[in-house]
Amino acid sequence: MSTDLLGKSALVSGASRGIGYAVAAELLSRGANVLITARKPEPLEQAAAELRGSGHQGEVVALAGNSGDAEARAAAVQRAVTEFGSLDILINNTGINPVYGSLMEADLDAVRKIFDVNVVAALGYIQEAYKAWMGEHGGAVVNVASVAGLRSTGVIAAYGASKAALIRLTDELAWQLGPKIRVNAVAPGVVKTSFADALYSADEDAAAQVYPMKRLGAPEDVARLIAFLASDQAQWITGETVRVDGGLLSTGGI
Ligand SMILES: NC(=O)c1ccc[n+]([C@@H]2O[C@H](COP(=O)([O-])OP(=O)(O)OC[C@H]3O[C@@H](n4cnc5c(N)ncnc54)[C@H](OP(=O)(O)O)[C@@H]3O)[C@@H](O)[C@H]2O)c1
Repeated sequence: MSTDLLGKSALVSGASRGIGYAVAAELLSRGANVLITARKPEPLEQAAAELRGSGHQGEVVALAGNSGDAEARAAAVQRAVTEFGSLDILINNTGINPVYGSLMEADLDAVRKIFDVNVVAALGYIQEAYKAWMGEHGGAVVNVASVAGLRSTGVIAAYGASKAALIRLTDELAWQLGPKIRVNAVAPGVVKTSFADALYSADEDAAAQVYPMKRLGAPEDVARLIAFLASDQAQWITGETVRVDGGLLSTGGI
């Protein structure tokens, strides 16, 4: 088992379940201390208890809060620095998608909210981490984007546009924050979580057939890549968006 993150501290937003939880578990298993957030306190506390019970030596702190709320972001970053003495790794995992279908009928307040949580909140978290720790000491940021940010879907269009903005933001920040801070992104295909349920649960086998790897993603597939990008093994990688999509975009489709 790798201990390449021993002594490092991480904040993972949106981590009471799904990809964020798997990322927290992976970082913890590699030796990091981890602060996790989510809106609902009870499932978050339960997730923290499960992580603490997993037998790894790192500390786990849970702090409930909405990533779209500037005060909650500041509180989470401050708490990580206070509890762990540093904040070396920030995983902007929170993402929402309340709008499906035609952009011509999309509710603009809902679209605004998508961009606020998926893009502005990610930047807000990075600003807080920069002020509190990374600006002086350095660090690594990984933003969770989506293949929908790399190619049109026709269905989750506003979400895709927000993830495209997050990918562009990743590139811009890599330039502005180097050499101390690396900023990368991951672009998953469909991963089996409650978030993506509507995209595959009616017929999972059919959904999986379009993937060269003939299966949908598991949260751990994404978590391992994120942990690598956050680690010193990736120390010459910044501004990159890595697909973790079972080859989906290699088919030319989405
Ligand atoms: N699953 C996929 O197929 C897929 C594919 C590509 C990209 N992604 C991206 O991966 C990320 C995680 O998705 P997932 O599939 O793991 O989702 P998920 O299983 O629904 O988990 C989402 C997590 O984020 C929390 N959360 C949601 N909104 C939040 C907010 N405003 N502030 C703070 N926490 C919030 C949820 O807890 P609460 O409800 O308690 O807040 C939960 O812990 C998202 O950015 C998503 O866009 C997912």
